[in-house]
Order: sequence, then C-alpha cells, then structure tokens
Amino acid sequence: MLWGGRFEDSLDKAAMSFSSSLSFDKLLIKEEITVSKAHAKMLAKVSIISEKESQKIIEGLDVILIKWKEGNLELDENKFEDIHSAIEAFLFDLIGDTAGKLHSGRSRNDQIATIERLWVIKSCKKLQGLIKDFITALLEQAEQQTETIIPGYTHQQRAQPVSFAFHLLAYVEMLKRDSERFKNVIKECDECPMGSAALAGSTLSLDREFIAKELGFSKPTENALDTVSNRDFLLDFLNAMNLTIMHLSRLSEELILWTSTEFNFVKLSDKFTTGSSLMPQKKNPDMAELIRGKSGRVFGSYTSLLTMMKGLPLSYNRDMQEDKEPVFDAFFTVMNSLRIMVGMIATMKVNSSKFTNELRNDFSLATDLADWLVLKGVPFRKAHSIIGKLLKKMEDDKISFKEISTEYLKEINSVFDETALKVVQAETQLKNKRTFGSPNPEFVKKQIDSLKLQF
Ligand code: ARG
Repeated sequence: MLWGGRFEDSLDKAAMSFSSSLSFDKLLIKEEITVSKAHAKMLAKVSIISEKESQKIIEGLDVILIKWKEGNLELDENKFEDIHSAIEAFLFDLIGDTAGKLHSGRSRNDQIATIERLWVIKSCKKLQGLIKDFITALLEQAEQQTETIIPGYTHQQRAQPVSFAFHLLAYVEMLKRDSERFKNVIKECDECPMGSAALAGSTLSLDREFIAKELGFSKPTENALDTVSNRDFLLDFLNAMNLTIMHLSRLSEELILWTSTEFNFVKLSDKFTTGSSLMPQKKNPDMAELIRGKSGRVFGSYTSLLTMMKGLPLSYNRDMQEDKEPVFDAFFTVMNSLRIMVGMIATMKVNSSKFTNELRNDFSLATDLADWLVLKGVPFRKAHSIIGKLLKKMEDDKISFKEISTEYLKEINSVFDETALKVVQAETQLKNKRTFGSPNPEFVKKQIDSLKLQF
C-alpha cells in the first residue's frame, strides 16, 4: 500500500476492484519502467540517492520487465490500484527498503502524464507507419489506373469524368494530412512532466532537464499545475484518429458501392470478403462495413474523454483515470482498420474498362462544352444556359453526344462550329484538363512519381 500511515483500515474489496486501473494500464508497463529507471538515474545524479541505490533500483526494474516479458508477473487487479503501485510493490519484494527511495520527488500524477505521453508518441509512429503502407498500396493501384475513366460525382450525381487514379490520389492527400496530424501530436507530447510531482513541483533539487533528455523529450514542461491537469495531448491524438478513421470509413463506403452488382467496378480479394450462409452467390464486403461501423466507437471515445475532462477543476482528479480505455480502444481500432484497409486495397482488382463505353456519350461531358463556349468569348453564365437548352433538347430527342452534328448545335446557338464536338469525347476529355491538380493523366502520373519518392 502506497499511503499506509494515516489509514486504519484497508480499502474495501469492491472499492478496490472498482477503482483499479491495472487491467488496462498494464499496457503501459514498459513506459512505466523506463520512466522509473530514468528517475532513479536522475536521483543519483543530484545525490538524493547513492549511485549504488540507483543501480539496485534499476536492476530490480529490469528484472520486473523480464519477468513480465516471460509472462511471470502476476498483475492482479484485486491487489493493486494501478501499474505504478504494482511495480513499486514488486520492487519492494525484490530489493527491499531501497525501493521506497524511488518515489522521492515524484508522484503518480507526473508519472502517469509522462508514461502516457511516451505511449502516445510510440503509437503515433505506429499509425504513421501504417499510413505510409496505405499510401504505397494506393499508389501501386493508381499507377495502373491513370487512364481509367470513371464518373466523378457531386451529390451522388454524375458530375464530370475523372480517372480512377485521380480518385485514389484524393485519398492519398487525406492520408498525408492524417500523418501530419500525428506528427503534430508527437510534437505536442514532446515535453517531459517528470519533476512536476503531485502538482507543485518539489523542494528537492531534481534535474528536470536531465530526466527530460534521458527519456527522449526536448525539454521539461513549463507549469507543474498544468502538467498534471493536462490531457489535451490525448484529445488531440483521439481527434487525429477521428479524422483517419473518418477517411477510412468514406473509402469503405465507396468500396461497398463499387463492389455491388450495380457498379461492378471493383472486386475485393476472397481474403477480405465473406460469403452468406444462405445465399451462395453472395460475396460481402464485411471488412469495409466493419471499418465504417467501427468509426463510431472512435468518435465515441473522443466524446467520452472530452466530456470527462470538461468539469474538472485543476489539477489531477481521479476521474482522469478514465482517460485510458477510450484512447486504447480507439488506437487499436484505428490500427487494425488501417491494416485491413491496406490489405484490401493492395489485393483489389479493378474492372478498368467498366465506364469507358458508358461515359463515351455521357452528359457529364457537358461542362467542357460550356468551357468551349467560354473560349469563344461567351460569358460563362450564358454558356451554362445554352448548354442547358442543348441538353434539354437532346433529352427530348433521346439522342446522345455521339449522334449530334454541328448543325444540331448551331440550331441552339450559331457560335458553335465543328471543333465543338471534339471536346465531348470521353477519350480526350481528361487530356484536355489544363489546371494543376486536375485529372489530366500527365499531371497524375507526375504526382504519382513524386509521391513515390516521398513514401
Ligand atoms: N492510476 C492513476 C491514473 O491513471 C494514476 C494517478 C493516480 N494519482 C493519484 N493521486 N491517485 O490516473
């Protein structure tokens, strides 16, 4: 027990298991031991404990870690309140009273803040690695599809043709921003709480710079009170995950649409689809559906932590122990979703010619015809209305762009000439795009090349 002196009775059994966080904060055991070792080292450096005592503590902590790795550490949540008290108790068993010296100048309040930061940094890096794999998988598919024409949509209505590569590159952009967000979270975590103690620092001359460097942080945090009260970095981490899974969810939705018989555009590998127990023809995109579904629990985690924090006075309050489960759950959900999505994208087969014929005469080429009028000096608003009239007439006459002649166009407006119809050919449509960031296959190829160098 960590606070024996003033208490006459031990904690009620139900209260112990109700309040113990060990079942989940044991996930932080490595960070806990790393931070404790660094603290012992720092205490010796400033002569609060002897070199020998520090060594003894460090060796004891190493033994505990080995035991844990071998599966020989019994982390019993009915016995220990949290990972900090468990490790300290094991250290007492191993090295006796010297273990009691480790807690000089520290509190579980600065400990938890420190180990959480270290864990978040590690986890952000893992997610960034998976995002990189995901981008690679998208680029490999995109390379094959720079000339694959598909309808681009707004309002889920056909708007203008794009290429499938261009569509996939849109996701690459989202993922680049996602990775950047994790980078910012890492930066935000890069200050060391140790030495803030319970909330007000210490009368011991702790070397905060030293322990910060020892643990890989750039510097110590600025204000002890804020340090033990702060969980902004967890919220920012959760929000970065919110956006990542939201992007995954949108792609999942598209995969679900594309694999339907109506679209028949993409086939997912058997490795990532399931059958129906009743309907033999079914091949279901369950993994995509689950990613879409799981996004909800990630958003829920964010809301739960934000709500938990909003009414807390400074500084540490026990409510804050509730910060861990939502963050862990969101992390594992996002990590696994990313892994599955990488597999799905890397193995999917694209029916590249699916839309070529269909778009040949499609009305979604009409905007380019309006642009043609603009080049002839017609104000765009007028051009829009001329093309509107043309489409109405074509609809009434039940004919497509393929079937109309220059004369037909001239009936609508005399500005038209024989070059107009050239712009409504799906085959040349993408190549006609002139703006940077458009689906012109030349631009898209260049972008793929440059992205491949970055990822
Ligand atoms: N298990 C606690 C948590 O996760 C550690 C900090 C406890 N501090 C305390 N003064 N009870 O928040």
